[in-house]
Amino acid sequence: RQAWPGVIRAYPDRITLPDGAKVVTLQEGGTPLLPARHLSEVTGCEVYLKVEGANPTGSFKDRGMTVAISHALATGATAVICASTGNTSASAAAYAARAGMTCAVLVPSGKIALGKLAQAVAYGARILQIDGNFDDCLELARKTAAEYPVELVNSVNPVRLVGQRSAAWEVCDALGRAPDVHLLPVGNAGNITAYWQGYSAYAADGVVTGTPRMFGFQAEGAAPLVLGEPVRDPETVATAIRVGNPASWRGAIAARDASNGLIDAVSDADLLDAYRLLARREGVFVEPASSVSVAGLLRTARDGRLPAGSLAVCTVTGHGLKDPDTALSGMAPVEPVPVEPGAVASALELS
Ligand code: F0G
Repeated sequence: RQAWPGVIRAYPDRITLPDGAKVVTLQEGGTPLLPARHLSEVTGCEVYLKVEGANPTGSFKDRGMTVAISHALATGATAVICASTGNTSASAAAYAARAGMTCAVLVPSGKIALGKLAQAVAYGARILQIDGNFDDCLELARKTAAEYPVELVNSVNPVRLVGQRSAAWEVCDALGRAPDVHLLPVGNAGNITAYWQGYSAYAADGVVTGTPRMFGFQAEGAAPLVLGEPVRDPETVATAIRVGNPASWRGAIAARDASNGLIDAVSDADLLDAYRLLARREGVFVEPASSVSVAGLLRTARDGRLPAGSLAVCTVTGHGLKDPDTALSGMAPVEPVPVEPGAVASALELS
């Protein structure tokens, strides 16, 4: 069996590059669509998890970054810049390293999960910390790229979203149809926009019949799309989606409305419950922002907005190791024991 070639080579008719462009890839995509037995039992639906933490840098951002960096290289760029809550910067840093480019990342002070920062350091990015939130970082990155010779690789760069559509195509290819409902976390709103574009393209071309209803979820303290206005000081334990003024606002609303879907908010307590449940009942360790889709699944199954019997896919967007601090603060403490089988047995109450 041939190795998965990365999303550009997997979907050459749908993701195109300028003539003669070199493909910069880490063989991203081709991630598991994992049946979720416990979640299916609890909800009365047929639930699958699209496990995006299995990408090369541990998040779905790699799907768009392979396209953005390949484009940037083809146009002769030697430097790229992005604003990020952590995952975009980790991905940009990796693909820039692969392409031999310089990468600068603008991050909000003190709100980047430790694993993501470690990645940007390891890949050799210049890390510039801003006294402000993600929205301030994005505005600064846009202005800098407009005035100086550096390419912006945030999802406001439309080729990023073309790459991210590949996740919807993979879901349909694996199921042999489109799901009834697709649930995902929403921050800057690029991903829900891209999934909807991907599903719509497959339906328009007759690859599948119909499109799923799109269910997007934000964290309660960072829910501008639910409130209908920007949030000045977004706050949530799910730092990845701590976004107050999403760049793809209109794309998210269009996905919701055209699909007969919904966008709702979940509390930090509920998303942390889903975070623990995913790890302990499904064996899938994700970062807090990713569990928002599952918190939304549980909520909408309970209140009836998600019809029983639905074929439902939840995207879990990033790997749990991205945010070790949240994992350790929410988990049982490490127990010291003497080097002695009896001590181990008594700690485990085996006798
Ligand atoms: N989940 C994770 C793990 C993320 O990192 C992000 C976004 C999202 C969900 C939301 O996706 O923005 O397309 O609606 N992270 C961005 C970043 C903001 O900078 O890495 P979205």
